[in-house]
Amino acid sequence: MNHFKPPYPARPKKQFNPLKALFYAHKNLLSIWPEFAFEKDFMHLKVLKQNIFIVNSPETVRKVMIENGMNYLDKTTQQVKALEPLLGNGLFISTGATWKKHRRLLSGSFDDAHIEMYSKVMISAIKDTEAKWDKLESGATVSMQPEMAQLGADIIARALFGEKLGSESAESVVAAFADYQTVVRQMDIPKLIGMRWFPNLNGKFGVGKNAAQIIHDCVDGIMEKATYKENADTLVAQFIHASETLDESESMTRLEIRNEIIVLFMAGHETTANVLSWVWYLLSQAPDVEKKLHEELERELGGKTPSYEDVNKLPYTRAILDETMRLYPPVPVLARQAAEDDTINGKHIPAKSNVLIVPWLLQRHKKHWKNPDHFIPERFMPDAKAPTKFTYIPFSAGPRVCPGKTFGIKESVLVFAILAQRFRAETTNGYTGGMDCRLTLRPSDNLPMKLIKR
Ligand code: HEM
Repeated sequence: MNHFKPPYPARPKKQFNPLKALFYAHKNLLSIWPEFAFEKDFMHLKVLKQNIFIVNSPETVRKVMIENGMNYLDKTTQQVKALEPLLGNGLFISTGATWKKHRRLLSGSFDDAHIEMYSKVMISAIKDTEAKWDKLESGATVSMQPEMAQLGADIIARALFGEKLGSESAESVVAAFADYQTVVRQMDIPKLIGMRWFPNLNGKFGVGKNAAQIIHDCVDGIMEKATYKENADTLVAQFIHASETLDESESMTRLEIRNEIIVLFMAGHETTANVLSWVWYLLSQAPDVEKKLHEELERELGGKTPSYEDVNKLPYTRAILDETMRLYPPVPVLARQAAEDDTINGKHIPAKSNVLIVPWLLQRHKKHWKNPDHFIPERFMPDAKAPTKFTYIPFSAGPRVCPGKTFGIKESVLVFAILAQRFRAETTNGYTGGMDCRLTLRPSDNLPMKLIKR
């Protein structure tokens, strides 16, 4: 079969010099990796005075994420500084005892029983999008990335705050986030991954603080309304209930709950939206895959709305999703700071060094993947050979592995099980597979697509 090879940023033949690398990294973090980086096991860059280590083999990734995982729990100082005004001591950047306690509390709300409960709001939010799209004429152009971001936000808001409060508040939280992200986007990405010495181009942190205040006020307002009685099965009510009934060592303050809600909102909607957008794009370019998807949906669902149990009957839909996250990992670079000295690959890693784990490289590594740049969902079918461990980590691995992994997967399969039964999407002439990579990886220009009714 002739597999589709989606476009990717040109790969320089040689390592860029530091200034050139910074210039390009600022525009697109994925354009700086030379061809040889997709074959290396380990890299060390010394840029001006800063050590940056890149672990790029199953053994070195295992060492950083599992064997010595607690030594690499810290995000880089720059990431913490950038996100603290918004997240406070929220999970994404916290460490030590606070991280441990909050992680435990949060994980309890993401077990299978809870996800099954949230699947009801997933399905109702997706059906609302289906109804909205139904009102459009076949062939109408939509901006697919914002469409998927709105849907992702609607789902997480309904899971957090309940069907009614969630659908009412999703829009205002999304608007507050959009303002904040405009500011964060203008901050320097090289700094976020730990290049301390890169000059601050715009000094936007003050503006970031104001935008964060808007989000804080918005979420505080929603929390006031979210009583346990009416919304017992929502995430926020569970946290509030725990804070009112458990002792301090096992519960969170209201401020901490607000911080974690913002983390969940931030971490839970943009990543999923990006994956969903890339799936629509890849389906539009790979008719054989699209045909097999429709065959599976027709065979297993025959036009009905799927239930939570139906998700497990759709292995090809799931494989498309897995392959999309391989080619376009929503978080393509994970940055950590070593707490203490270590040795990796025989090399001394001084405390405070920045260590990068780069799913963009690992998941297209030439030693570990056949046809690494081609779109081949079949490699993720249940009867295919499993990928080498630690070469496929779209949800990270080790202590900070994404707690929303099952949530994100079930939600994404349901989106395609419902929407792809009714609609196909085609790229418009303007879009040729460009991408923006700042903290997360998304299609450029909001991915304009024509929606065709089936
Ligand atoms: C396809 C969807 C998703 C992808 C690919 C994804 C990916 C990731 C990755 C790579 C990290 C780790 C970042 C790092 O190690 O630096 C992470 C962390 C996290 N994710 Fe997700 N995520 C997804 C969906 C979600 C959802 C739906 C939620 C919540 C409902 C969520 C909540 C979180 C949280 C709270 C963290 C921080 C964990 C910690 O630091 O201990 N994610 N995610």
